[in-house]
Amino acid sequence: MCGIVAYIGEKQAYPIVLNGLKRLEYRGYDSAGVAVLKNGNINTYKKEGKVSNLEDFVKDKDITGGIAIGHTRWATHGPPNDVNAHPHTSENGNVTLVHNGIIENYDSIRKELESKGYTFKSDTDTEVLCYLISDIKTNTGVKLGKAIRLALQQVVGAYAIVVMCEDEPHKIIVARKSSPLVVGIGKENDFYVASDATPIVEYTKQVVYLNDDEIAVLNKEKGMKLYNIDEVQKEPYVEELELHLEALEKGGYEHFMLKEIHEQPTSIQDCFRGRLNAKEGWVSLGGIKYYLNRIMNADRVVMVACGTSWHACLVGEYLFEDLARINVEVEYASEFRYRNPIINENDIVLAISQSGETADTLAALELAKSRGATILGICNVVGSSISRLTDAGSYTHAGPEIGVASTKAFTAQVTVLTIMAISLARRKGKLNEAKFRSILSSLEAIPKKVQAVLDKTEKIKKIAEKYKDAANALYLGRGSSFPVALEGALKLKEISYIHAEGYPAAEMKHGPIALIDEEMPVFVIATKGTSYEKVVSNIQEVKARKGKIVAIVTDGDEQVKAIADDIIEIPETNEHLVPLIATIPLQILSYYIAVMRGCNVDQPRNLAKSVTVE
Ligand code: F6R
Repeated sequence: MCGIVAYIGEKQAYPIVLNGLKRLEYRGYDSAGVAVLKNGNINTYKKEGKVSNLEDFVKDKDITGGIAIGHTRWATHGPPNDVNAHPHTSENGNVTLVHNGIIENYDSIRKELESKGYTFKSDTDTEVLCYLISDIKTNTGVKLGKAIRLALQQVVGAYAIVVMCEDEPHKIIVARKSSPLVVGIGKENDFYVASDATPIVEYTKQVVYLNDDEIAVLNKEKGMKLYNIDEVQKEPYVEELELHLEALEKGGYEHFMLKEIHEQPTSIQDCFRGRLNAKEGWVSLGGIKYYLNRIMNADRVVMVACGTSWHACLVGEYLFEDLARINVEVEYASEFRYRNPIINENDIVLAISQSGETADTLAALELAKSRGATILGICNVVGSSISRLTDAGSYTHAGPEIGVASTKAFTAQVTVLTIMAISLARRKGKLNEAKFRSILSSLEAIPKKVQAVLDKTEKIKKIAEKYKDAANALYLGRGSSFPVALEGALKLKEISYIHAEGYPAAEMKHGPIALIDEEMPVFVIATKGTSYEKVVSNIQEVKARKGKIVAIVTDGDEQVKAIADDIIEIPETNEHLVPLIATIPLQILSYYIAVMRGCNVDQPRNLAKSVTVE
């Protein structure tokens, strides 16, 4: 949610910042802007819309210089237009900054500054922070770093900022609280700053992740100095990035989403690599191994997340309860954090997040921690805020997910949850040796089975063609296929803008059935297993009302085939693992429906990938 990039050093800064903005565009694409500092002058260029608009706009401008800051915006305060685009500049033109986050008390600060005679140009909270820094600097005569510190002490909210100043042209200053910021250390006292490591990796692998309330001064001549908000200097902790550049490219696919859907055989494999072996009969999640007893003996595990990751939690609930007999509650992080929930020291709060930066999920964990619970995380992005806040956790190792709609992160999250549930079940004596080994070998076979579904893309594309003009769609499933139905509906609505809802199949007759007519496609997960016959009855109910059924069935199914309008067969697997396979055809369907409707699948309207504001 909003992407920040900056460079300071001997190279030309603009191409580095522009390239970085393109990499971060998935975080928001309402507007883009850049400010370049050269010979003590700051020139700012900004444009509504995509980074490519900015690129066109600056084509004939002089954008040379060794210091630049850039921003790609997901609008929070004020509409997406040129004026509200970042960077923002103080009234006297001296201070310019980019910001990701929300300044919650911006209105009172704005009024106070207006009473001093300032006039604001934009509707943003960011401009207010910029004016405040400049006001402090001008009126107290302090240097930029001190002015930033004093300003941030007045601010309530979340921020990652990069600030530059015409008076102090050899430095940029960065600060963070609750919004992510990474500094890449180049070889020649040059520095790369970004909201995540993706714009940095092609230049350096040495990075420092800023912690909350830290401020870093990046000086062309004097190097990096890190401070806390009280001006106490700290030693930066330099880490080595494990990210590879190829993972950030489309690799010949038309969209990142398609690439990421097709990566799932590998990403699932990567997720369980070194964590289980069916032949030898073991399973191990290094990151949480010292916490297994605590989880087993906990009163309950509360899983918190948002969006797709919340759907993964729902699958996790089925797995933990059924396999390990551990009591699980699944909570929307945004509700949990404000509900004054009852949490005690014997609770485990497990957060799931692809980005590891989702503001609500982070806040839910902070609340749980403050009340004494053990907090664990399942994240994809290494070094992310959630992974650093938690007591322990497991990475999903799915690789960078750039498409805004989550695909491979979901199946990787479900894979980690499955491994966790199996380890706990085994340790608790709830799985005998034969069942344990059988589920492990079924899990090892999943990548091949996912590939078998991907190989059916042409058939799925034809089904997409048939339903691409629907105005509404229903998704139904039972048991752990219910969250798969929710996820299928979310994928369709977020990238194709078709209204879609997921329901537990049996709930349909308590209301949603009223929607069914010959125009309504109903996507049903009807694989063989405990609820198969019941789902078949639900399908009959839809057919009786002339609804169109697209069913995801187990290979060789005859019963549903006879009544459904269309079927997609998926390989048989252990019932607990069905979500890992049944999700795939729904992702492919959504992708092609969206492409056929001419939608921008990688950057759907109004969305951003990393939701760092609440
Ligand atoms: C949907 C999607 C979002 C995210 C949600 C949580 O395709 O991507 O619903 O799942 O914003 O994000 P993370 O997992 O990064 O916490």
